[in-house]
Amino acid sequence: MNILIVGSGARESAFIWKLNQSKKDIKLFSINPNAGAAEFSTPIYTEKEDLAFIKSKVVEHKIDMVLVGPEIPLINGIQDFLKNDPSTKKTSVIGPSKKGAQLEGSKDYAKNFMAKYNIPTAKYKSFSQAEIQEGLKYLETINPPYVLKADGPAAGKGVLIIDELDEAKTQFEDMLLGKFGESSKTVVVEEFLDGIEMSCFVLFDGKNYKVLPYAKDYKRIGENDTGLNTGGMGSVSPVPFLDKKLKQKIEDKIIKPTVEGIKNENIDYKGFIFIGLINVKNEPYVIEYNVRMGDPETQVVLSRLKNDFVDVLTCCENQTLDKIDFHFDMKTYTNVVLASGGYPEKYEKGKLITGLDKVSESTIFHAGTIKKDNNIHTNGGRVLSIVSSAPKMKEALRKSYNTISKIDFEGKTFRKDIGFDL
Ligand code: AMP
Ligand code: GLY
Repeated sequence: MNILIVGSGARESAFIWKLNQSKKDIKLFSINPNAGAAEFSTPIYTEKEDLAFIKSKVVEHKIDMVLVGPEIPLINGIQDFLKNDPSTKKTSVIGPSKKGAQLEGSKDYAKNFMAKYNIPTAKYKSFSQAEIQEGLKYLETINPPYVLKADGPAAGKGVLIIDELDEAKTQFEDMLLGKFGESSKTVVVEEFLDGIEMSCFVLFDGKNYKVLPYAKDYKRIGENDTGLNTGGMGSVSPVPFLDKKLKQKIEDKIIKPTVEGIKNENIDYKGFIFIGLINVKNEPYVIEYNVRMGDPETQVVLSRLKNDFVDVLTCCENQTLDKIDFHFDMKTYTNVVLASGGYPEKYEKGKLITGLDKVSESTIFHAGTIKKDNNIHTNGGRVLSIVSSAPKMKEALRKSYNTISKIDFEGKTFRKDIGFDL
């Protein structure tokens, strides 16, 4: 079975690592992989990673399954693009159709979906450019802080949380006038929810679903959740405060209506649903949907999966997820991300990474790395994910931080407080 992995971060490194543990006869291919992924799959390099290129490689390498890591190819319609072409229609795609990807690609679509299916989320209203005046009036009727969201994808920067009404009004107008280009031509204004966030992952085959382990992501660059938002600076799984009762509530009030809604909308969806949740006084609300796995959560979530990942994905394709039991390691897994100096703003690439050969207590997933002259260099904002496990979180964290002390590169940046609040 030939599997093509789309995406080149640590999430995709974790996919490749997990797939390579399979007992099945598989061959893995990946597009523009990092140094780690390139070692454990057949690399395909290109400067133009568009849908047509991906399709040509699916044909050339007789790909049976495409596992899509990031959201952009899904939002651009990779699933439909392959399914609608006779030469690639038999290839499985793990990821939804373009219509389904709107759950992530359009916040307005996602909020309307949640309203339609009675899924708890923050109160909201959406405004287009023609509705600036109505939007400014609406802002006066809600309590601060004000949450403004660009409708479309904005590389994680499209959400503003603002304390002052005047500033919120200014930003609201700027957004509608093109602050985030096409993405903010519609803006969702919503009520602020005060609580603890967590990430819920569901694998859905179009008929059946399975809930994967929950995880917590640390999004800000600075300790104590301060500073700019990043792609994610660390993660842990399981989430200790999540008890059985809360999990049941999430399943009943959020997961079931979400999958039923997807079916009811006739959305062609075989893939991961990542539900960003916030727990407000033991009541779960949806902050956002993503139509893929999370990064840095995948690195801990997949580490806990005991099943053969090829079996799992095959069942997803065959709509037989109800026929298998999932098993998860109950130890705690922690992931501390090493980033380039300056990230998430400007950073330099090409710094020599040393010490990788001294690692014994953790699993390293490469992200922004490249191999040059037999050495590994930095090649992106997030560079490595350092994953460790132990029966107690503290011990897992000790291992991750001990590993970090052995790895070095100029500008090495990481949060020292992952798991601090749990
Ligand atoms: P999103 O892209 O929708 O996940 O938003 C990015 C981040 O903004 C979330 O991870 C939350 O930390 C925060 N956020 C979004 N919506 C809300 C809300 N209604 N109340 C509080 N925080 C929010
Ligand atoms: N960890 C958040 C994300 O993948 O979007």
